Amino acid sequence: MNTVIGVIGGSGIYDIDGLEGAEWTSVSSPWGAPSDQILTGTLEGVKMAFLPRHGRGHVHAPSTVPYRANIDALKRLGVTDVISVSACGSFREDMAPGDFVIVDQFVDRTFAREKSFFGTGCVAHVSVAHPTCPRLSEACFTAASAAGITVHNGGTYLAMEGPQFSSMAESKMYRDSWGCDVIGMTNMPEAKLAREAELCYASIAMITDYDSWHPDHGAVDINAIIATLHGNADKGRALVARLPALLGADRVPCPHGCDRALDYAILTAPDA
Ligand code: ADE
Repeated sequence: MNTVIGVIGGSGIYDIDGLEGAEWTSVSSPWGAPSDQILTGTLEGVKMAFLPRHGRGHVHAPSTVPYRANIDALKRLGVTDVISVSACGSFREDMAPGDFVIVDQFVDRTFAREKSFFGTGCVAHVSVAHPTCPRLSEACFTAASAAGITVHNGGTYLAMEGPQFSSMAESKMYRDSWGCDVIGMTNMPEAKLAREAELCYASIAMITDYDSWHPDHGAVDINAIIATLHGNADKGRALVARLPALLGADRVPCPHGCDRALDYAILTAPDA
C-alpha cells in the first residue's frame, strides 16, 4: 500500500512548496462540496494531497467548514495520513506565540457542526480515547524539530465554536480548571471524522496568541494573530516538506489501529 499524505492547511497556509506535478483537482462527495479543490502532486516520491480548510481566499468560517466532505474527499483520493495544520491560542506561558504544539488530546466544545458519518441507516461508535495517531504525531514532532521550530510534544486542544474569541472568564476556566494547553476553532469534528474514516490523523497547532487569560497581553487581536501567522506559515511549510522522507512511500498498517477503527464499531446489523 502506498502512503498518501493529506494536508489540511489552516489560516495562512494555502499550498505546499516544491510539489511535483501539482494540479488542483475537483473531488465530489455525497456529503457536499469540500472547502475547495484539492492540490495533488508528489514530494520526494510520496503522493500528497493538500486541502485549504477555509478555501482559497478564506471563504469558510470555522462553523461552516464542510468537515465531512473534506475528510471524505481526502479518503476518495486514497489519502492514508491526514496532517492538520491550524492556528491556535495558548493557555501556557511556556507555549509562546511562534511555537508549535503536536496536539494529542481534545476537549470538544463545538456544538453547531455535523460530527459523524454515521447515524441514519448505519450506527457506529468509534473510540476517540486517543484521537491522534502516535506514529504520525511523532513524525510531525521530528520534522518540526529538524526544521528548527520550537515544538511541544503533546498538548490538549480546546475546540470552541467561535467565530468570536473566548471571554476572559472562559479562557481562565479552560486554562486553570480544565487543564487545556491551546485553543482553536477547527480541529473538531475533523479529528473524530478522520477516525471514523479510518485515517491516521495528527494535529500541528501553530500558536499565534495567548488568548485572553494573560494579564500582560489582554484581548486577542486579529491583527497580531495575522502578523504571527505569516511567520508560522513559512515554518509550517518547512515542516510539511520533511514529512515524505520520514513517512516513506510504502505504508505498513498503522501500529495503533487507526486504519481499522471500524472493525468493532458498527452496531447496525448487515441486513438491517
Ligand atoms: N486561533 C488562533 N488564536 C485563537 C484563539 N485565541 N482562540 C481560538 N482560535 C484561535
